[in-house]
Amino acid sequence: MKFLSFLISSVETIRMTSYTDKGEKPERGKFVKFHHLTFWVGNAKQATVFYCDKFGFEPLAYKGLETGSREVVSHAVKQDKIIFVFASALNPGNEEMGEHLVKHGDGVKDIAFQVEDCDFLVKKAKERGAVIVREPWVEQDSGGKVKYAIVKTYGDTTHTFVEYMGPYKGLFLPGYHEPLFRDPLLPKLPPGHLNFIDHIVGNQPDDKMVPVSDWYQKCLMFHRFWSIDDKQIHTEFSSLRSIVVTNYEETIKMPINEPAPGRKKSQIQEYIDYNGGPGVQHIALNTSDIIQAIVNLRARGLEFLCAPDSYYDTLRQKLKTAKIKVKEDLKILQELKILVDFDDKGYLLQIFTKPVQDRPTLFLEVIQRHNHFGFGAGNFKSLFEAIEKDQDARGNLTAITADGPGNAKPFY
Ligand SMILES: [Fe+2]
Repeated sequence: MKFLSFLISSVETIRMTSYTDKGEKPERGKFVKFHHLTFWVGNAKQATVFYCDKFGFEPLAYKGLETGSREVVSHAVKQDKIIFVFASALNPGNEEMGEHLVKHGDGVKDIAFQVEDCDFLVKKAKERGAVIVREPWVEQDSGGKVKYAIVKTYGDTTHTFVEYMGPYKGLFLPGYHEPLFRDPLLPKLPPGHLNFIDHIVGNQPDDKMVPVSDWYQKCLMFHRFWSIDDKQIHTEFSSLRSIVVTNYEETIKMPINEPAPGRKKSQIQEYIDYNGGPGVQHIALNTSDIIQAIVNLRARGLEFLCAPDSYYDTLRQKLKTAKIKVKEDLKILQELKILVDFDDKGYLLQIFTKPVQDRPTLFLEVIQRHNHFGFGAGNFKSLFEAIEKDQDARGNLTAITADGPGNAKPFY
């Protein structure tokens, strides 16, 4: 793997590594793109309403008792190219979904990839040690035929491979029908302006980041895209390490994080504690107009983390000597609390929601890129500080002691 660059970020000197070696090209088939995400939740009907109301999704398709799905109900929602599915158990005694809910709370269960040659990719993954949750199978309805397979990744999270066996003309996937209800309020709300899934981040316990990123490289023939030097990414209290893995075509980006030692409990560790192990920490949704998106999402009542005004003072200073020019009005970015990260060639704008359930686990990110392919490393420090403020309010910014993290009282 070739080392490319050290960058000066907008906050402090950050050691980042970009990689140019695209690794192994699958001899056959390919991972095309993110297809959809499936959340396992306690009440899929209500979770669907939350994502539609707050983020601007619209009902796409449904399967449940009325359509002959007797065990699991699934509501699919869509916004431009982003599709989320919310699923819940219908009957008492569904141990798999019940235990998942007790352990993790509401969250992402599955990240589905659209693939070509599902059989080959599953065979390859299996040969290389991946756990196959379900061997390839085909479903069809009047819309067409689709092949699936399910592979286990970190924690209880899975990847479904979705291969179209021909053009699919249905609403979403075989078995799905029209939504039962369309809320008349939704068309009256300002649009979310969210366009596609930019990246999906998985949090791992200490020392598990490298084995997980190795798993993607070995079993799915992904390669390293970017990584962050843990020693540089820290606040006064905690730090993290991150490796981004991607498919050969670099259309699927999966950052893998782990906590690094600090004086207090890392927000990554807080996630691991409340999620009962590894899982999806955040989903980044790409927009081509972040200012309008955030104006509208705030108007819809979505809550975001807030960078302090001092962040923008520092940013203005750094931008004075930068090689790029930020087109957007900094005053508006500051009002909306949108963060900026840049290098010599481009910049990105990003903002993070607060956790979208009571457990401090999953949150979402909105990101706009201007010729910048990083993940906001220059903002990690201010992001962490904003999270730590909330973490402290939750009583979880606890000191690390000889007994291990999490049991001592905070310093202040
Ligand atoms: Fe992100």
